[in-house]
Amino acid sequence: MVSPDELARAVTVLRGGGLVAFPTETVYGLGCDAEAPTALRRLYAVKGRPPGHPVIVHLAEAAALDSWATDVPDSARVLVDACWPGPLTVVLRRSARVPDEVTGGRDTVGLRVPDQPVALALLHEFDGGIAAPSANRFGRVSPTTADHVRADLDGDVDLVLDGGPCRVGVESTIVDCSLADPVILRLGGVTRERVTEILGVPVELRVAGERAAPGTLDAHYAPDARVVLVEQATVVEAAEEMLGDGRTVGLLAAAVPGELPAGVVVLDPPADADEFARVLYARLREADRRELDVVLVVAPDATGAGAAVRDRLTRAATGSGR
Ligand code: TXA
Ligand code: MG
Repeated sequence: MVSPDELARAVTVLRGGGLVAFPTETVYGLGCDAEAPTALRRLYAVKGRPPGHPVIVHLAEAAALDSWATDVPDSARVLVDACWPGPLTVVLRRSARVPDEVTGGRDTVGLRVPDQPVALALLHEFDGGIAAPSANRFGRVSPTTADHVRADLDGDVDLVLDGGPCRVGVESTIVDCSLADPVILRLGGVTRERVTEILGVPVELRVAGERAAPGTLDAHYAPDARVVLVEQATVVEAAEEMLGDGRTVGLLAAAVPGELPAGVVVLDPPADADEFARVLYARLREADRRELDVVLVVAPDATGAGAAVRDRLTRAATGSGR
């Protein structure tokens, strides 16, 4: 995993304005000192991300919340008490500590304490906020292993900390608590049902449109292969049609039909929605490695952990086939 020497080197890189890719429980992040505008500009350049898209600031502990945010409402306190460390990002009014480069000029900031031992060790040693988007180039599938990061960013990142594969596999749930009523801006590792249970009121979902999280674009989650969502009952028919058109076809589904036409590449089936989330991005990357033209996907139901998976797949299906 990560030695104390490597951790110390990572802290030195961050203090010197460099970029460190590190594991979180959701996906790998591309981190820099959240208070160093020059480092932040380099981070945006390496990501290929348009300025104006805000990045999340990662903290070592919830106690740091009030140093990065102001006017923290009870809703945010209740959520972070229940979910941190964990795959939840809260959007709050930013404090003077947060540079414009982090928020794209907005008056709010996204904050989270990740639940991953290497990330937490790094944050504690660094003793500051680490700004980190997912460690992929803009528009590519998010990385869930250190190898994914190296494949995407090799040469442009000063250090990659390898903490093994990510446990959750999809990004954090984002809840905007800067509004009178909290709103979910992105489905992710904490289910909507859980957010509702913690807050004790139904929570609106605003994952598309103007007021959604800036930069939540469909193409973000898309591989080169075209992603086509199908129902379990129509897998065979859809595969035959695609093969008939001369395309190479893969299948990602929890249940693989026995009578599948020859030539379909079966991507290792996830057992349940949690595993689907965990392996989703790796499977989409595998589809590209195998140079598939099309991946047929039977998405899990949009409840619990399945909702975030379905959200990413729906976007991938819209944004793919470039
Ligand atoms: O799980 C995660 O959240 C991962 C790991 C590395 O922590 N990070 C991640 O970052 O997914 P990124 O940059 O790929 O996505 C962050 C999302 C973007 O859609 C951005 O618009 C939204 O968070 N965001 C950040 N700050 C915001 C703010 N102040 N208001 C609204 N949305 C914000
Ligand atoms: Mg991302």
